[in-house]
Amino acid sequence: MNREWYKDTAFYQIWPRSFKDGNGDGIGDLWGVYEKLEYIRSLGVGGIWFSPLYVSPNADFGYDISDYCAINPEYGDLEIFDKVLQKAHALGLKVVMDLVINHTSIEHEWFQKSRRGIEPYTDYYIWRAAKPGGGKPNNWQGIFESECWRWDDVAGKYYLHLFSSGQPDLNMDNPLVRAEVERIMRFWLDRGVDGFREDVITFISKTEGLPDDGFVIGLRGMKFYESGPRIHEYLQQYRRILEQYPDRFVVGEAPMMTPRKALEFVAGDKRDLDMMFHFQHMEADCFLIEYLRMPFNLRKLKRAFSNWQKALSGKGWNALYLENHDHPRIISRYGSEKYRVQSGKMLACALLFQQGTPFLYQGQEIGMTNIALPKIEDYADCVAQDVYKRCKRMHLPDKAAMALIRPATRDSSRTPVQWSAEANGGFTKGKPWFYVNQNYPEINVAAAEADPDSLLHFYRKLLRFRAGNDVIRNGSYHEYEKHSGRLYVYTREYNGQGILVVCSFTEKPAEFRLPKRLQGKAMTLEFSNYPVTDGPEFTARPYEARVYTYETRKRAKK
Ligand code: NOJ
Repeated sequence: MNREWYKDTAFYQIWPRSFKDGNGDGIGDLWGVYEKLEYIRSLGVGGIWFSPLYVSPNADFGYDISDYCAINPEYGDLEIFDKVLQKAHALGLKVVMDLVINHTSIEHEWFQKSRRGIEPYTDYYIWRAAKPGGGKPNNWQGIFESECWRWDDVAGKYYLHLFSSGQPDLNMDNPLVRAEVERIMRFWLDRGVDGFREDVITFISKTEGLPDDGFVIGLRGMKFYESGPRIHEYLQQYRRILEQYPDRFVVGEAPMMTPRKALEFVAGDKRDLDMMFHFQHMEADCFLIEYLRMPFNLRKLKRAFSNWQKALSGKGWNALYLENHDHPRIISRYGSEKYRVQSGKMLACALLFQQGTPFLYQGQEIGMTNIALPKIEDYADCVAQDVYKRCKRMHLPDKAAMALIRPATRDSSRTPVQWSAEANGGFTKGKPWFYVNQNYPEINVAAAEADPDSLLHFYRKLLRFRAGNDVIRNGSYHEYEKHSGRLYVYTREYNGQGILVVCSFTEKPAEFRLPKRLQGKAMTLEFSNYPVTDGPEFTARPYEARVYTYETRKRAKK
């Protein structure tokens, strides 16, 4: 068996609520997934990552779990899950589950017992008494809400919730909690799943004493739980469970991660994680989070790409992504809705020739774009709701609050997948649980299937080209035009073969000249998003991308 199969695999992420409704209740579900497995396979991916399918009151759409070992009835049950799993495997698709263990839902039985002091659950969460005078236990800030402590009348104490107040943090220092995690992992591994995506996994170990923080740029308190003191010990414990099953893999979500620190997690045989989702390349148009918007800065994006490519080369492995359920659509951010298909193809080229395992997010392959709805009540995400409340506390007028929320909200990536030009984009025959982007008559899977020039077919070709390509898998990475604010240019080279990727991130013309060492070489055009008659030196059109292959060695004379 190939233990490193994930290096030759691309994944497709499903956010189940909006993928495909199979039973007509307006909510995406596993019956819908079952129908679409052939489609997913046809993209050329070899695996699926499911965002949480478990029972949840949906304070954070599944990232607040009330039962880890059952399927949310809105999405199906274990029977249909097993069918999906079996069919996926038969099609050659691995299946990876989301493992959300930093926190549970407040509705989880553990929390309900914990707050009532029922053993052994009392110490399952992070409870603290009020400070003398009734103050919060420390001065940390919340990630989703301004506060991260919530007073609980039943317990007569505060509980810690780094995310929403419906998501109390588990006390990972308690060996009983870790035993529960092991049990959950086994439950799914025994069912046959191929691994996990571990949610905010680098936050699970908190510094003892939960000390007050000083002045920081960023979030107060984060340094006391980001890659906390016992993180490697805990991850190793979970890794050992995984190792008892052949060929299983784990990708960890790691906000605030830097490439150097990442090596402590992903390098070597004894690694905690096979790869990580870091956020640095998602910050090219904002400061840390999308709500703190800044103008798009290509140099920042390139720095993130290149730093990760170089730091992990030969030591670790990258997870490559541009979209998931936590970020607005990438064409609306780093590309252009006006040049939707061109910029979508360009972004695909910018990412997919890098070393790592690509993760495509549902709808990305057809170039879905952001939404802009009139009122806060139209939005569903708890973060958007919370940002709105904060704006109101700061007396910001509605117009300003909505202008902040619209381009930043996670809701933009959570609209139903647009399958066809039929009502509701073919997502459901019922009433969709959430707004369907009204551009569905134009942007949908059926239309993309029918158009040989579509982004969908482009992704398929790229993924086909990638499969088994040693240069992409193993090659060196070198960036050119580093200081350009318009072009992202890199080469990959391995064993006599080279790939040159040229991507323009602007509407404006951008001059491309071959790097000296490539001049005079025979360059073969493999991919482009416009008809090409010139090159390999050219003036790039809006969001133009070209990919050339070449031989790195001079051919020996016969
Ligand atoms: C990261 C998940 O991707 C996000 O959707 C969720 O809200 C937070 N973790 C909290 O679980």
